[in-house]
Amino acid sequence: MTQSYRFPPGFHWGAATSAYQIEGSPLADGAGPSIWERFAHTPGMMANGDTGDIACDHYHRYKDDVQLMRALGLQGYRFSIAWSRVLPEGTGRINQKGVDFYSRLVDELLENGIEPNATLFHWDLPAALDDRGGWLNRDIAHWFAEYANVMYKALDGRVKRWSTLNEPWVVTDGGYLHGALAPGHRSKYEAPIAAHNLMRASGAGIQAYRAVGKHEIGVVFNIEPKYPASNSPEDIAATRRAHAYMNEQFADPALLGSYPPELKEIFGPAWPDFPEDDFKLTQQKVDFVGLNYYTRAVVKHDPNAYPLKAVPVKQPNTTYTETGWEVYEQGFTDMFTWFKQRYGDIPLYVTENGSAFYDAPVAEGDVVQDPLRTSYLRKHLKAMHHAIEQGVNLKGYYAWSLLDNLEWSLGFAKRFGLYHVDFATQKRTPKATAKFYAQVIETNGAVLDD
Ligand code: BGC
Repeated sequence: MTQSYRFPPGFHWGAATSAYQIEGSPLADGAGPSIWERFAHTPGMMANGDTGDIACDHYHRYKDDVQLMRALGLQGYRFSIAWSRVLPEGTGRINQKGVDFYSRLVDELLENGIEPNATLFHWDLPAALDDRGGWLNRDIAHWFAEYANVMYKALDGRVKRWSTLNEPWVVTDGGYLHGALAPGHRSKYEAPIAAHNLMRASGAGIQAYRAVGKHEIGVVFNIEPKYPASNSPEDIAATRRAHAYMNEQFADPALLGSYPPELKEIFGPAWPDFPEDDFKLTQQKVDFVGLNYYTRAVVKHDPNAYPLKAVPVKQPNTTYTETGWEVYEQGFTDMFTWFKQRYGDIPLYVTENGSAFYDAPVAEGDVVQDPLRTSYLRKHLKAMHHAIEQGVNLKGYYAWSLLDNLEWSLGFAKRFGLYHVDFATQKRTPKATAKFYAQVIETNGAVLDD
């Protein structure tokens, strides 16, 4: 039987990036340092000693990069704003040149018929705020709202879709629990506090938007569905804990005004009793939710695993990406149906989805052949279409990422781009996946038909 994969009329096709991963020149034109600037310049923290000093030099090449977007036929572009470009000390003094950079980028996008989609926080906290406790300081909800307000006032006439945070789970797990990401802390006591303040800040940012904004605001979560490795009660309980920790810890306070009970079990005495009133701030009406999906985890009980007592189990006979993530498109469909069932019929966007695979060196003028990445994209777009057929209210998809970029502490070696970037020359070359994605956009999915 043939199957059609045409997406609903008006389905929005885009690609995503983030500030520290592509811009370069992190201290240009009066910008203050971010925690990623500090982290990347701390010996031993980054693979290969890589930093965001130059990255894709997008700060200078944004006009050319908008042309790359146009060549794909992108309808939307999701980027993030570096807080410390705009407010070098995190609060107070505005650095107009920083605001102007994003203003120019937005104009360039609009002139090329591409809708800008701005994320206010994609992990690069101003270092000056980290010095005041960063995400551990309750005042950060007000600091964030102040910054958000500056950006709403500058850009809301032109930016019609905003997100407060990108992936708060990664900030707390990588930044405050295990220390592999900035600011590099390792504390079971700090992680839940950072998580809670992230969601308070998101709420404060949404509240501030309601006072001045005229369009749409939401928040972006990374969701990784969890499946038990066996039917044993221990594995099923471990799977519940892993799911509560990664998937519900952030969406629950934002959308239900509570935390799942497993968190207290996981963190034990390190779990604070947060004031009930805080949930009035965390739970705000959102216009949409952005979901980032890369992989799933199959989970097994392990009494020695800190702090979850749960570990992921590798699966036989399947493909893993260069970041060690299983290619599992069924998890994508499952994520949407779970999300709708738990949180209701909220309009959804896929704000990130993509894969890192090794790319062979580029011959002059050629397209980079990247069949594994194309296969990943094809499978995930089909899985996304299945979710729409099942009644999920999905409005659009942003591929991660427009360009190969700085994959945080893993450096430049992990390539997620639709365009290959030669970091020595800054030359961009389309990959075969970019060509395929352009056809998907042009045909609104019909090129996927079986
Ligand atoms: C992040 C991106 C990152 C990507 C691939 C997401 O966790 O939002 O910044 O590059 O996944 O790891």
